[in-house]
Amino acid sequence: MQKLKVKGKNILSGEIKISGSKNATLPILAASILSEKKIDLKRVPIVKDVVTMCRLLKYMGSNIKINSQKKCISIHNKNKKFKNIAPYAFVKTMRAGVIVLGSLLARFGKAKVSLPGGCAIGTRPVDIHLFGLKKLGAKIKIKNGYIFAEATHGLTGAEIKFPSISVGATENIIIAASLAKGITYLKNCACEPEIKNLTDFLNKMGVKISWLGKRKIKIVGCKKFKQVNHEIMFDRIEAGTFIIAGALIGKKLKISGIQKNFLNTEIKILKKMGVNMKINKDHINVLYSSKIKPVKIKTEPYPGFPTDLQAQMMVLMTKARGKSQIKENIFENRFMHVPELRRMGAKINTSGNLSYINGPQNLNGAEVMATDLRASVSLVLAGLIANNETVINRVYHLDRGYEDLEKKLKHCRAKISRIF
Ligand code: UD1
Repeated sequence: MQKLKVKGKNILSGEIKISGSKNATLPILAASILSEKKIDLKRVPIVKDVVTMCRLLKYMGSNIKINSQKKCISIHNKNKKFKNIAPYAFVKTMRAGVIVLGSLLARFGKAKVSLPGGCAIGTRPVDIHLFGLKKLGAKIKIKNGYIFAEATHGLTGAEIKFPSISVGATENIIIAASLAKGITYLKNCACEPEIKNLTDFLNKMGVKISWLGKRKIKIVGCKKFKQVNHEIMFDRIEAGTFIIAGALIGKKLKISGIQKNFLNTEIKILKKMGVNMKINKDHINVLYSSKIKPVKIKTEPYPGFPTDLQAQMMVLMTKARGKSQIKENIFENRFMHVPELRRMGAKINTSGNLSYINGPQNLNGAEVMATDLRASVSLVLAGLIANNETVINRVYHLDRGYEDLEKKLKHCRAKISRIF
């Protein structure tokens, strides 16, 4: 099993170009099932989850081609016959696989998609996805670990108020409603920028989707789609991760290829902590930050602080002068990086969904275990500031969502390498 070796205390400087967003790419790929027309996607991050989604689409019959060098994907499903089944083998490694349910059902009136099952950070049910699809007229049964969904006469637009905010369920229902008869109104939607990227993509395809308010969307279903060229938005979480790296041990680190408007909450909190940054529309320079102050944060749906940046923020809090606090509101089990950070010398206590971080604390290199995607990268950040060497096991978690992580960090003078 591959490991990452990080030698700490090397000052980072230079430029890091942010990749396209994994979380924007996955629902857009799922939505490609709707159309027979050509789809060209640019700035696609070539990470494991994206490759798995492409393999799933190919398995189902999609004519999909990845150009890893150019970071492009082209899809043309003219007259293609689909197997409308998403097997466990794909969905178990990438939960977002369940998002093909909405498009398969809308296009073919029938779908069989594996239940994703739990994952390290929580139970992660799909009840809200199924609630929305039922409102659009689908009949759903669960049997042998699979969701069997049927809408023999197609889906029909409806007014749906989500019982709680879910990114994936909002995406699934937007995609399904794009090919439903009539108009759908969605309330209490997630409004992450990646969902806006999906609605922009679907609008280019010919669907009429309008955001009526922060959490309200109108979708006018479409029957004939248009050819589309679309650029994936930047990865907000990757950008946040590298800004934190700069705050931890950067001298002049330029994070480019971003849209600062989508990072307002993160920037506000980092400024409050005393992180020294020069902010521009499409790039941020993180300068040397000498005194980091403690803060209290809570994770929330967008525009709140993202749960996907919680573990990385915790590492920065080990450098703050005083006691910081994190309240994790999205996932019930997302502090699994804490025991690993403690092994490196961090002073962190947890109680339920609260973590208290006492700083400043010098971290010491150790052999640690990655448990999920964002936890893995927090251990890389910890390794960058620790004394001596840190070895991170189970880096396959990291490969699911970070494109060229080692290459980007090495380019900025980090000492990081992969052990095979
Ligand atoms: C997406 C992101 C993930 C991020 C998360 C929260 C992708 C591919 N993944 O995941 O990186 O951490 O948003 O920002 O975009 N829930 C239910 N029932 C459901 C659906 C969700 O109870 O049917 C719960 C979940 O268990 C969780 C909360 O709702 O506690 C939010 O989950 P959700 O927003 O759906 O996250 P994902 O779409 O899975």
